[in-house]
Amino acid sequence: MSAVKIAERFSDLQPSLMVKVFRAAAQVEDLSNLGIGEPDFNTEPDIVDAAARAGKEGFTHYPPLPGFLDLRQEICSYWDKKYGLKSVPDEVFVTTGGIQSPFLLFQAILDPGDEVIVTEPCFVAYFQQVEYNGGRVVTVPCLEENGFNPRAEDIEKAITPRTRAIMLNSPCNPTGAVIDRVELEKIAAVVEKHDLFVVSDEIYESILFEGEHVPFATLPGMKERTMTVGGFSKSHAMTGWRIGYAIAPREILGLMQVLSIVQSFGVNSLAQKAALYALKTQEKKVMERRDIFRQRVDYALERLNAIPGISCLKPGGSFYLFPNISGTGMNSEEFTFWLLEKAKVAVIPGISFGKSGEGYVRISCAMSLKDLEKAMDRMENALKNR
Ligand SMILES: Cc1ncc(COP(=O)(O)O)c(C=O)c1O
Repeated sequence: MSAVKIAERFSDLQPSLMVKVFRAAAQVEDLSNLGIGEPDFNTEPDIVDAAARAGKEGFTHYPPLPGFLDLRQEICSYWDKKYGLKSVPDEVFVTTGGIQSPFLLFQAILDPGDEVIVTEPCFVAYFQQVEYNGGRVVTVPCLEENGFNPRAEDIEKAITPRTRAIMLNSPCNPTGAVIDRVELEKIAAVVEKHDLFVVSDEIYESILFEGEHVPFATLPGMKERTMTVGGFSKSHAMTGWRIGYAIAPREILGLMQVLSIVQSFGVNSLAQKAALYALKTQEKKVMERRDIFRQRVDYALERLNAIPGISCLKPGGSFYLFPNISGTGMNSEEFTFWLLEKAKVAVIPGISFGKSGEGYVRISCAMSLKDLEKAMDRMENALKNR
């Protein structure tokens, strides 16, 4: 018997399906890995140098809790210049990755049994973030026939007296869908009518292929009701630095900062200085990487749509594709493990991103065109010779 007793609420916690896929994929030699949710690029060397310089200049101490003022100022001016989102440094909280702020927000706003509407398929962490903080997830499916976008009317139907917040993500992981202004305005009207709060995860805003990215907080009346999640992981290929941020009303950020004291106590000083440098200098590089992602996504899209049994919508942004594999007769888990065995190609089953992801898989275009070509050849051959 172990001396450690696991808390009741976590006692039947199992590794997620995604983890199972990664474990199985790790056993495959010469793998084509389309499962990875991060850019394949290394962080630009001059960003790394900026961190090293900061270290030598003495930025090796505890950072201010909300983040360095110069970085928060730069974040404000980035969102203002690019999207007209006006904010002041007090409305910015630098966090340990983009992932930390929704967790802290749910911790700050949820009483047991409170509900959060999560539009799905989605980044899976949201589900646990709500549940670990005593909340209940109410899902709203985003269907292929609607371009994988949430519809305001579906969101409104899911509202109950316990609803506290709505979680949006555009461009979306895993579908690449971008919610257009008209639908966002309809959602904003619902939010206003029911006096709700929105967590708008916009971490992929810089990887946009067409249309416009509309920060939810820029819609009339929404700034006071929105926490915008931003970051550097995807835009600046800085996943390993663990830095992101939230832009939100200062009252809620104040509480989140207090809660973070016992958890992370500020964000790595060198990562903050690197992020500051990145925001000031990397616009061109960010766009270059966006164009590379676009090329890869376009290529893979064409290849996928030529494979019998598979059809795929064109994503508006991100580096993901979310093909419909239901024509193969397999469900998303069966398809994933079959593909891994027969073609040595790793993808993520759509069901891992929520119930409405069944019938789809996520493909990440985080590899060179040459490697992508090899992966698509393998996939095509396996499916044709079934
Ligand atoms: C939609 C979405 N939000 C947030 C994150 C977390 O990003 P970070 O690395 O900044 O914590 C991810 C990472 O995959 C993501 O896909």
